[in-house]
Amino acid sequence: MKLFRKKPVVEIGLDESPHESLHKVLSVRDLTFFGIAAIIGAGSFSSIGSACFSGGPGVIFLFIICAVACGFTAMCYAEFASRVPASGSAYTYAYVSFGEVFAWVIGWALLMEYSIGNIYVAFSWSGYFTNLCDGFGLHLPEWLTINYSEARTAFKDNVAGEGLSAWLSAPELGGVKLIFDLPAVFINIIVTWLVYVGTKESRNASNIMVMIKLAIIVLVIVVGAFYIDIDNWSPFMPNGFGGVMGGVAAVFFAYIGFDAVSTLAEESKNPQRDLPRGMIYSLVICTVVFVILALVLTGMVSYSELNVSDPLAEVFSKKGVKWMLFVVSIAAVVAMTSVILVFQMGQPRIWMSMSRDGLLPKKFANIHPKYKTPGFSTIMTGLVVGIPIFFTNPKFVLDFTSIGTLFAFVLVCGGVLTLPRKEKEPGKFHLPFINGKFIVPAIILLTFILIFSFNPHFLSEQFNISGDNAAKNIPMIVFLLLCIVMAVLSFMKNLSLIPVLGLLSCCYLLTGMEASNWIWFGAWLLIGLVVYLAYGYRKSLLNN
Ligand code: ALA
Repeated sequence: MKLFRKKPVVEIGLDESPHESLHKVLSVRDLTFFGIAAIIGAGSFSSIGSACFSGGPGVIFLFIICAVACGFTAMCYAEFASRVPASGSAYTYAYVSFGEVFAWVIGWALLMEYSIGNIYVAFSWSGYFTNLCDGFGLHLPEWLTINYSEARTAFKDNVAGEGLSAWLSAPELGGVKLIFDLPAVFINIIVTWLVYVGTKESRNASNIMVMIKLAIIVLVIVVGAFYIDIDNWSPFMPNGFGGVMGGVAAVFFAYIGFDAVSTLAEESKNPQRDLPRGMIYSLVICTVVFVILALVLTGMVSYSELNVSDPLAEVFSKKGVKWMLFVVSIAAVVAMTSVILVFQMGQPRIWMSMSRDGLLPKKFANIHPKYKTPGFSTIMTGLVVGIPIFFTNPKFVLDFTSIGTLFAFVLVCGGVLTLPRKEKEPGKFHLPFINGKFIVPAIILLTFILIFSFNPHFLSEQFNISGDNAAKNIPMIVFLLLCIVMAVLSFMKNLSLIPVLGLLSCCYLLTGMEASNWIWFGAWLLIGLVVYLAYGYRKSLLNN
């Protein structure tokens, strides 16, 4: 079937030679820093607040579950990255394992991770930047610091605050209220320019930003630790495990980014050795930071006070530590700039790979003759991030990003299961093969027994799919069935343990997504398929 035509691994590995090349300047340290640059950002400075509010201090369990899911996935990315050292990340990997239509679907889903994710980060950046400007006595009018959709909702629901005053004070142009987030637009333009002019420049900027943000986060943790009241940690899970899982989109968002390292294959000095290391090192460092940060936040104030867009600033303001407000705002602005930078680098490189394969117009693969960056794709990324800033709202963007990324991760883990086994080669990452024949069924059985001993009604609760429950429970039922299928397949086909656990843990996180997200995501995939059938299917290089 032509839809599933695959690109041979060897061919992709050698892919770089026929094309104009990028600058090979990145070492393992740079890649680790790029990983941290991409991970610590809006998730740590904004969305962590709503996750703590929903789950209480017990949200650290969710951070650990997400770290495990991302860790397994990172190892699968690493395996692919060491076999297929070409730009394009999961898109390229899906091309060799599942075939063209899946590769396209992943490329389409990754658009959500990088570009749509950046919209959320740009909004959060703007929140902290505006605080910082206020601190310097520079006040921007409300109609220039909020997005249209939020202001309109605030006006319709008559909710007092920034949204309502923006709506009431905004000038009109042809009967339309002129309301938009100017700082978010501004940061997008600046970063697009930086990424356009060079990888070395972007790397230097990113490395400096990572050092600043890590130093300040350590300071936040150390200073915050003095204000911890351990009574705030009890109850540890005020809304039960359901409440903890309610924060899944927000917590998972905090982790997204380690995979962006894999888009930099062609700019790495030794991609087969360094990409895997960069991904795994950055993930480990960030997990430690997240867990400690969540404990400090929920220890400083009651979890119920954390449902704000700037929780780190909020806790210090509640404790009256004014000087930390300033420090936190600087750290947030720097951290989020680095996330935008790395994502803005990742997206064009995926498009470049898709274009080289014929799935996108040739222009997307153009390399700027002087700067040696994918120039056209970089500008397109700037537009894809910049235009929706005028009309989308952050909450929607956050959920959409997390679901799209999880979906891509599931396919990467599944893809590794389809790769033929390979002998270890010196200097290259090699995913350890642990036979899942008995271990996978045993883990699944043990988990079921544990769940039933805590909650004997678990199954009857899940299979109660009347009314509102249907939307909530169907993903869990599908997940339970998938567990059984994977247990059987592992037993029959001796599947490799790590990718199976990666696949199952990412699928588990998907069960935490709201029903409305699934509908939007389904529609998005459908549009993607139509675009593929109308263009990529015919123009693909494999078609000839
Ligand atoms: N992990 C990135 C952030 O939190 C997307 O901003």
